[in-house]
Amino acid sequence: MTSNAIESVLQETRKFPPPAEFTTQAHISSVEQYEEMWNRAKDDPAGFWGEISQNLDWFQPWQKVLEGQMPETKWFVGGKLNVSHNCLDRHLTTWRKNKAAIVWEGEPGDTRTLTYQELHREVCKFANVLKKLGVVSGDRVTLYMPMIPELAIAMLACTRIGATHSIIFGGFSSDAVADRNNDAQAKLIVTADGGWRRGKEVTLKPAVDESLAKSPSVEKVVVVKRTGSDVTMVPDRDYWWHDLMEGTSADCPAAELDSEHPLFILYTSGSTGKPKGVLHTTGGYLLGAMMTTKWVFDLKDEDTYWCTADIGWVTGHSYVVYGPLANGATSIMYEGAPNWPHEGRFWEIIEKYRVNIFYTAPTAIRAFIKWGDQWPNKYDLSSLRLLGSVGEPINPEAWMWYHRVIGGERCPIVDTWWQTETGGIMVSPLPGITATKPGSCTRPLPGVVIDIVTDKGESLGPNQGGLLVIKQPWPSMLRTLYGDHQRFKDVYFGKLDGMYFAGDGARRDEDGYCWVMGRVDDVLNVAGHRLSTMEVESTLVSHPAVAESAVVGFPHELKGEGICCFVTLKTGAGDESLKKELINHVRKLIGAVATPDQIRFTNSLPKTRSGKIMRRLLRDIAAGRESVGDTTTLEDYNILAKLRDEE
Ligand code: WTA
Repeated sequence: MTSNAIESVLQETRKFPPPAEFTTQAHISSVEQYEEMWNRAKDDPAGFWGEISQNLDWFQPWQKVLEGQMPETKWFVGGKLNVSHNCLDRHLTTWRKNKAAIVWEGEPGDTRTLTYQELHREVCKFANVLKKLGVVSGDRVTLYMPMIPELAIAMLACTRIGATHSIIFGGFSSDAVADRNNDAQAKLIVTADGGWRRGKEVTLKPAVDESLAKSPSVEKVVVVKRTGSDVTMVPDRDYWWHDLMEGTSADCPAAELDSEHPLFILYTSGSTGKPKGVLHTTGGYLLGAMMTTKWVFDLKDEDTYWCTADIGWVTGHSYVVYGPLANGATSIMYEGAPNWPHEGRFWEIIEKYRVNIFYTAPTAIRAFIKWGDQWPNKYDLSSLRLLGSVGEPINPEAWMWYHRVIGGERCPIVDTWWQTETGGIMVSPLPGITATKPGSCTRPLPGVVIDIVTDKGESLGPNQGGLLVIKQPWPSMLRTLYGDHQRFKDVYFGKLDGMYFAGDGARRDEDGYCWVMGRVDDVLNVAGHRLSTMEVESTLVSHPAVAESAVVGFPHELKGEGICCFVTLKTGAGDESLKKELINHVRKLIGAVATPDQIRFTNSLPKTRSGKIMRRLLRDIAAGRESVGDTTTLEDYNILAKLRDEE
């Protein structure tokens, strides 16, 4: 092993083959079929993707599948299409016209169902509203909204006329909105008075008002009335959605856009510096979102599919809106929190709508475990046939719980590895063919060529931890960081020549399965051993008392770095004897090298809005430093102060 490699210490030997009933009905139903697709895509990407691209409706066929090499690639050159046409219009001439496209549930329990025809009508009307307000193809439109159908309508309306949307998660502050408006030079913003979260109104319009004082490019504001709270409307700048929509024509032909036309910008926080505006384009992104939804979720017309992600996160873009709608599916959208008005809300929704496919994040799964089995056990979850996980490595014990308690030991689990930058799922089980292992995202999808390499770019052998890279371009890859092409080249392609570096550490086991070990920035270096924080965390989570944990290094005179573990318990407060027990537990399962130096009990951990633990901030706390860096994506600002007090 080279000195820069990451040592893997996680032992996991459980294996779950797909149920035979699942395999027989699956879109991808044999390993041979997968291997044939994968090899074809590797050896003849243009041939493979050219054929696959026929799943989209093109106004004008492309001349060339792929032009250029990483990092500068263009897909389906010369082709013209429209995303909203592909997500809506093409279903209207089929039996799907009256199929539910979006089934929405508000947190207070109000509901709305939009069929493909109804959604199409709303999208066309709002597209005409945007035009009336002066938005033209190529303009940037910011969407800062709760999880309500108008968000999906606004996205699709932008795509209909070629405006590039930039969605900002509804929980971000006015500063975050101003920064992103400025970076994108947005012309218009769509928002709401507020939305509902845990029974309280989260207001949005006041933050928009504040942000506009600092982001003068925005000329017009459209406000959806959701909560009915008082808002200030500035004349000739602010308009109510319902006023604008009234009497507006539902006739709006979809613009014929170039395959490389900018579709959306989505800001993702870097560990330092300002957020990165990841730019995705039309043809390649849509094809990736559509095909991965179909392959990975084995989506069928009769399925009711629910991805719980907020649309302000890439998972919501690709797997609440674009992927499902391009496939003509029924996608559930829920406004609120999983524990409101009670901890069984998600399971209640699954029972109510007879959800078949359920996709959520490890952070949510760990919360469900903490709340207790009595909640899911109260509801009928027998409609479920497939489960998914995304956002972080899933701890093997959380995987087992998901499999047992939610999946009734009958549903395959797809642990999907991907990023905002990749646009769609890259490495994941295919539920009809992959024997899954708890904690592994298994193998790359067709068209995805990955490797695990040293920091010199040399391939590593089985079970050697290193850097996860992608070696061949793929249609849904980001094209640039908005306004900063040099940063795009430096961040993703500057480390290893000709390869896309994802920033994650991983290893491949003897079966070629990929185990993501977390961000390489999070790696511990203890007495010369490079250890993955995630593996120590998963070991802690395997102790029956532990709900969640975050492990970071801190400066240590002898070892270089000491190991500090922040631990959330399922119930009660921890004491000295539990600390000792946890230290011994890690020592026994991993070895002396991973012996924690400190255990700190806490009620919660600092997380991003999408549920990722912000270890960077915990490192500062463990080292007794003030946090510098970007904290705009932090979910709960009070948590840092609390953690400092608990020292
Ligand atoms: C992490 C979310 C392990 C990883 C779609 C990646 C995962 C980052 C997984 C991207 C997974 C996401 N297993 N790690 N299944 N899924 N990650 O941009 O570190 O919000 O680089 O996209 O999340 O996060 P992003």
